[in-house]
Amino acid sequence: SGYFTYDPGFVSTASCESGITFIDGANGTLLHRGYPIGQLAHHSSFTEMAYLLLNGELPSDEQYEDFSSRIRNHTMVHEQIANFFKGFRRDAHPMAVMCGVAGALSAFYHDNLDITQQHDRQVSAIRLIAKMPTLAAMCYKYNIGQPFMYPRNDLDYAENFLYMMFGNPCEEFRVNPVMAKAMDRILMLHADHEQNASTSTVRLAGSTGANPFACISAGIAALWGPAHGGANEAVLNMLAEIGDESEENIQRYVDRAKDKNDSFRLMGFGHRVYRNFDPRARVMKETCDEVLSELGMGDDPRLKIAKRLEEIALEDDYFVERKLYPNVDFYSGIILKALGIPTNMFTVIFAVARTIGWISHWNEMISSGARIGRPRQLYTGYTQRDYPTGE
Ligand code: CMC
Repeated sequence: SGYFTYDPGFVSTASCESGITFIDGANGTLLHRGYPIGQLAHHSSFTEMAYLLLNGELPSDEQYEDFSSRIRNHTMVHEQIANFFKGFRRDAHPMAVMCGVAGALSAFYHDNLDITQQHDRQVSAIRLIAKMPTLAAMCYKYNIGQPFMYPRNDLDYAENFLYMMFGNPCEEFRVNPVMAKAMDRILMLHADHEQNASTSTVRLAGSTGANPFACISAGIAALWGPAHGGANEAVLNMLAEIGDESEENIQRYVDRAKDKNDSFRLMGFGHRVYRNFDPRARVMKETCDEVLSELGMGDDPRLKIAKRLEEIALEDDYFVERKLYPNVDFYSGIILKALGIPTNMFTVIFAVARTIGWISHWNEMISSGARIGRPRQLYTGYTQRDYPTGE
């Protein structure tokens, strides 16, 4: 119409100003508050990174202790939430349950919801970061018919999550440190990624003044799709479908991905912003090698298929010309599988990690006094016409 800029898929429109995460897709750079993701993944922890994303600076020792103990103190969820779970089918997809239970938090924690107050926003942020692993583990326990495990506040974030997933009331549970470290790293690598589809969803929902729990529920819904967070689950399903490690078989799947008449895509490949490499994928691949060898699973057939698939694709003109590289989710699923996490929980874990990104963006937006987000459109429907009255 000439009045608006038309940019389907937001390929070239900045929707906001933000000081949280910087991505240079051409050079494969990802910085959180200025720090490169590779350095954070190797030297920081998820809890420290959560403080950094939310508050802008790395915490002092004292600030870290305070932040970490506040998270530990909010890990439990209201007992009524257990009843809410019981209304779902046992075989419900955990992401379907997460959309509901995360949104339901707003029905329980409405004592600090004056979003104009920095204090209240911090309390909601802490509650969400603390309670998401509890809800995620409850989804899994409900699915397999085991009792919910109460959080243990002597454990750190990733350890506690693994405990609630794999512990049971009948025996003592020791968290494997290799597994806890791997989980912490997966959480760090998924913590934030500037204005991706789910974060933009959270911002748009939040711009109306909706409460933060409801906004996070909207983010979870957006994350679920296979083009976004659902990709890690899709990668594992794809590797299982490929099944056989033979060269011809793998090549057949690469050829299918290139065929425009076939809807099959190489899941875990390609990214809207990264056109050189995904820096998270490098750390993820390295972590995958480390974890599998430490767990004695170095010859896992899925890993072999994934590596060969990557090699074949990266030498293929189709992928080279379109600058398609493995993204963060290409290797994360293999690690999660090695940790004993079922495939349908992968995207839930992504949601646990991304909650810190979502809530940091929400907090940044609310504190900057942003206006309601209200995109316009190019109208392509009928021009005005008369209702048929039969006259
Ligand atoms: N396999 C085969 N061809 C592909 C793939 C793929 N995975 N990804 C893109 N292409 C082709 C696409 O067909 C198109 O070809 P042509 O120009 O000939 O029509 C070209 O590459 C450009 O693709 P696009 O779909 O226009 O790119 P996009 O920026 O709209 O989509 C994407 C990005 C990530 C949705 C897409 O690459 C994809 O579907 N990848 C697989 C799903 C996936 O791994 N998603 C996780 C993203 S990272 C984690 C996250 O942020 O959630």
